[in-house]
Amino acid sequence: MSAIENSTLAIVGAGSVGTATAYAAMIRGVARHVRLYDIDEAKVQAEVLDLAHGSQFTGATDIDGGADLAHVEGADVVVITAGAKQRPGQTRLDLAGTNVEILRSMMPQLLERAPEAIYLLVTNPCDVLTVAAQRVSGLPPHRVFSSGTVLDTARLRWKLAQRAGVARSSVHAHIVGEHGDTEFPLWSAATIGVTPLLEWERQGQRVFEPRELATLTDEVRNAAYQVIAGKGATNYGIGLSAVRIVEAILRDEHAILPVSSVVDDFLGISGTALSLPSVVSAGGAQPVLTTPFSDAEAQLLRSSAQTLLSVQASLGV
Ligand code: 2OP
Repeated sequence: MSAIENSTLAIVGAGSVGTATAYAAMIRGVARHVRLYDIDEAKVQAEVLDLAHGSQFTGATDIDGGADLAHVEGADVVVITAGAKQRPGQTRLDLAGTNVEILRSMMPQLLERAPEAIYLLVTNPCDVLTVAAQRVSGLPPHRVFSSGTVLDTARLRWKLAQRAGVARSSVHAHIVGEHGDTEFPLWSAATIGVTPLLEWERQGQRVFEPRELATLTDEVRNAAYQVIAGKGATNYGIGLSAVRIVEAILRDEHAILPVSSVVDDFLGISGTALSLPSVVSAGGAQPVLTTPFSDAEAQLLRSSAQTLLSVQASLGV
């Protein structure tokens, strides 16, 4: 049987992100069993029922769950979405204190029930929480990482594809660093097809001018704030991003995705978690250490790391 056919995905947290993740996992059929856990029994039971009622239309995946941690038992992948979410005007880092505490109490209980799982942090600030989870669990960094800038990268590719008039899958551009206000695109390595981004033309005209790149960067950096201001939270984009990562794990794809894991002396950076293009497979996430950075981009990455390290220091992470 393929890895997918007898695999279990456990999702911790039945809020808007956790349920969007469960819904996307069922539709994409990324696991044989999806288990949804939350401390709020009435809520999680209702979400599981609602999803199960539609399961005839989503293939073989079965959905179950509840307020008992037994639902996490033996999971192959555990996606952690539980915690406080950003309110309008709040940054992701503002959530650090509350969500680190929740994670510190939850992680040992999860490990007890799913000692062999790959752990995927989605709760924000996901980079800081990745460091906390790795420290508390003692797992190797490749087995406990976060969705990082996978969603930001998807936002960037969506924008670039529209402007370039090509499929999103033909846009090779990455957002790296913090999943937050210090994230940035690796413009020096960005191509459309095999054409360097700045040389892309439509009807004989250059599409992207250097001065526009800063605007595009701001639009991606602020995309979540825009959605949160309008609907109170983001959930579909992050749910689909999390499921894409789970799929790469459970199908053992060795897909390159910009997930965030603890780095050790990458461009002189250690002790925090940053998003870098990483090979994601059944073994977890391995950053691509040969990812090229211009001098300016290396400086931006160090600055992103410094922001995270300061927050970690204030929380003893
Ligand atoms: C997002 O970027 C809020 O981190 C979440 O949509």
